[in-house]
Amino acid sequence: MDIKALSEQYGKYAIERRRYYHAHPELPEQEIETCAQIKEDLLDIGITDIRTMSNCHGLVATIHGGRPGKTVALRTDIDALPVKEDTGLPFASKNENIMHACGHDAHIAILLGAAKMLFDCRDQLKGNVRLVVQPSEELATGAKAMISEGALDGVDAIYGSHVMGALDAPYYGISSGPLMAGAAIFNIRVIGYAAHGSEPHRGKDAITVSAAIINALQQCVSRMNDPRSPLVLTIGTIHGGSRFNIIPNEVKMEGTVRTFEAGTAVEEIMRRIVENTAAAFGTTAEFHFEMITPPVIHDSEKMVLLAKNAAEKLYGKQSVCDMQPLMGSEDFAYYLQKVPGVFGIIGINDVAKGYIYSNHHEKFDFEESAVVRGCAIMAQFAVDYLESET
Ligand code: NI
Repeated sequence: MDIKALSEQYGKYAIERRRYYHAHPELPEQEIETCAQIKEDLLDIGITDIRTMSNCHGLVATIHGGRPGKTVALRTDIDALPVKEDTGLPFASKNENIMHACGHDAHIAILLGAAKMLFDCRDQLKGNVRLVVQPSEELATGAKAMISEGALDGVDAIYGSHVMGALDAPYYGISSGPLMAGAAIFNIRVIGYAAHGSEPHRGKDAITVSAAIINALQQCVSRMNDPRSPLVLTIGTIHGGSRFNIIPNEVKMEGTVRTFEAGTAVEEIMRRIVENTAAAFGTTAEFHFEMITPPVIHDSEKMVLLAKNAAEKLYGKQSVCDMQPLMGSEDFAYYLQKVPGVFGIIGINDVAKGYIYSNHHEKFDFEESAVVRGCAIMAQFAVDYLESET
């Protein structure tokens, strides 16, 4: 099976599909057309074992290999973002204020290209390939929904990848440990007591108390967290008050935490600071904290090696680099809680060619050879995993 040659043969196909999906983005939980079109594309390839999900706009499809063996899953996400595209591309989004600004259009194309190659050589495959087409990655709900409906049933290992502006083209980034942080959302509500702005002693000022809480929370990161384990604590919104001369009785804030730690240590420290700081000033505070994505941590050395070797086999040793951990999150983490797997990073940053915008930017774009590389590495990983002994 010459995957490199097949990727060159089908590269054009994958790029053409990327352009189609780029022009037709849909938001999380609304990927109805996207999912239906992917089903059509899979049928066109010749893949008929397709099961659409009932609890989300996702599907699973299986390529049955000609020889008995294991089952390897290949995953794509398919959702886009509420971003107004400003790339000027001829195949720019036709859907107003929606854009594939995270490159999930490339991921769909990579999966389809890999599927086409693997379907071509299905008779030689030692086992099966499960294609996992997942919606709602941006909400971190898609992977859970897919798993709950049996997307991983019978699967022995999983592979996924992401095009990323954080890595230079044409590197393939692979991490042998932590890759992407776990993400939490938190909400804080400070409850004070309203008064006239000229009589602070008769009220309990929710704004000054909030300021104290915000400052104190930074000590979670600077003084309480082990500096060898990165932690981000960001307050993204704050709302309070209605008029210049009224002491406000309520402030609401929300934010995010990024961490590679499991457990509830950060949550407990934050709760203590929020509740006790509020109490110190005679107010109360409500605190709600929810971990929405676990961290992506590679704990299977074998999977990491297989992905690394697949890329090296195709593009040489110099094409692969060690990926530093990213504080962004990925709900691929949920699959890794079920089966061994690996998540590769496809570098797309290229200053000389003007591809300098990070994921989620309205000008986000990349050289499409990244799609072809992504297909080839994905297909090579699948073949090599199925041929591997254990
Ligand atoms: Ni993404």
